[in-house]
Amino acid sequence: MRRIAFINEKGGTAKTTLAVNLAAWLAREKGRRVLLCDLDTQGHAGKSLGIDVRGLSPTIQDLLVDGQVTITSVLRQTAIPGLHLLPANKSLAELPERLAGARDRAGRLAERLRGLQGYDFVVFDAPPSMGLATLNVMLAAEEVVVPVALTYFALDGCAEILDTVRRVREEHDHPVLRVSLVVPTFYRKTALADAILEKLRERFPGRVTSTVLGYNVRIDEAQSHGQTIWEYAPGSSGAQMLAAIGKELVVSGAPARAAS
Ligand SMILES: Nc1ncnc2c1ncn2[C@@H]1O[C@H](COP(=O)(O)OP(=O)(O)OP(=O)(O)O)[C@@H](O)[C@H]1O
Ligand SMILES: [Mg+2]
Repeated sequence: MRRIAFINEKGGTAKTTLAVNLAAWLAREKGRRVLLCDLDTQGHAGKSLGIDVRGLSPTIQDLLVDGQVTITSVLRQTAIPGLHLLPANKSLAELPERLAGARDRAGRLAERLRGLQGYDFVVFDAPPSMGLATLNVMLAAEEVVVPVALTYFALDGCAEILDTVRRVREEHDHPVLRVSLVVPTFYRKTALADAILEKLRERFPGRVTSTVLGYNVRIDEAQSHGQTIWEYAPGSSGAQMLAAIGKELVVSGAPARAAS
């Protein structure tokens, strides 16, 4: 079972877009059994799948704070066969307060998912911050995929995540955690974007996907309809780019790459 987290503390880098569409691609196109875990108070993973997460209960927050709550009671079927969701909503904002003083607070998600069976992939959608929820994601995952919007500060952000991953690996005794892929997003053909992309490839050799996720309005539209790109616009260039990234994701899991 591969455990893959989409993390970047910068907001709006296409974490949710990639997590949801790739999870759906793995389930729909590859016939894999996938559990998508939303760890963002915005609840966008659920919303992107057409699930109304406002006021939903129980959510992943209950799973993390209450040992009596089971995964089965939180789990939602989605419209896509093989894809299940552990939804989040605003209630997740209470997590640090609810777990204050709990010694195992950073490892709650890992602990609740321990012994999980019946899935080929667990995909985590992290929030745009480096707080308790993201730390829980890092300790529950083994692979980190970093979606990087190709803007001037992209390199800084990416280096910071590598640093955080290294620290978490050491301080929390979680040696298997590694950054497996860096996915350039919001690519537009400009000299600046190309220069940043080149630097990214130099700086993180072998880890930057060959496919860059360019802007495609169908991707945004699909989310606004509560659908994945595979349902909304399977023939679009957005779908083609996402499928190509999906293929690279599958390949990246084959041989273990060097830890960062
Ligand atoms: N390739 C793309 N083309 C067009 N729009 C896109 C593309 N990728 C993402 N978007 C849109 O950009 C917005 C931000 O993307 P997304 O929500 O995936 O980012 P995020 O990193 O999860 O954001 P946050 O940090 O808030 O969680 C969304 O409205 C999404 O539909
Ligand atoms: Mg998001």
